Amino acid sequence: MKPSLIVYYSLTGNVADTVQKIAKEIDADTLELFPKAAYPDEGVRKFLWGGKSAVMGEEPTLEPYEFDGEKYDRIIFASPVWAGTFAPPLRTFIRANREALAGRIYAAVLCHGGAGADLALKKLRQELGLGQWQASVVLVDPKDRPSEENEQRLKAFYKELEFMAY
Ligand SMILES: Cc1cc2nc3c(=O)[nH]c(=O)nc-3n(C[C@H](O)[C@H](O)[C@H](O)COP(=O)(O)O)c2cc1C
Repeated sequence: MKPSLIVYYSLTGNVADTVQKIAKEIDADTLELFPKAAYPDEGVRKFLWGGKSAVMGEEPTLEPYEFDGEKYDRIIFASPVWAGTFAPPLRTFIRANREALAGRIYAAVLCHGGAGADLALKKLRQELGLGQWQASVVLVDPKDRPSEENEQRLKAFYKELEFMAY
């Protein structure tokens, strides 16, 4: 069985924290995406810049990264929800690696403040196209607002991930 890779973007650490947790639990590799022009992470600019970028469907240029699709059977995408969709750095990654991503098993981790995750998941699935979807989990600000509900959702996610179709 090949290992899993978690590809993620995080602006204020909620996704990043969760990804580290999941990676430890399921023994996955991780790949963090960094846009060359970092999004503001404070105040109203945070929402304006990121929100506009998400709504416009931007593909921000990323800092160089290493990705060898052959090494992985399962790719887990992790992102905050921005204006009801996934964060634009994931779009850049997916479009740049379509061939390498084809035929993989997909899963998703979305963190949000309370609304819009279903739509974001739908859009992520549309962006990836046809593929074998295994599992997804939606958490509410897991770093800033830890809760028993987030923990229970993660546990259910781990269980779903155990049923690998290898
Ligand atoms: C630009 C921007 C847009 C956002 N849009 C939404 C949204 O539509 N729905 C929602 O519930 N939370 C929204 N949020 C909140 C984040 O999704 C949430 O706080 C998430 O946990 C942040 O993850 P991070 O700390 O890894 O960046 C938005 C945050 C930002 C910065």
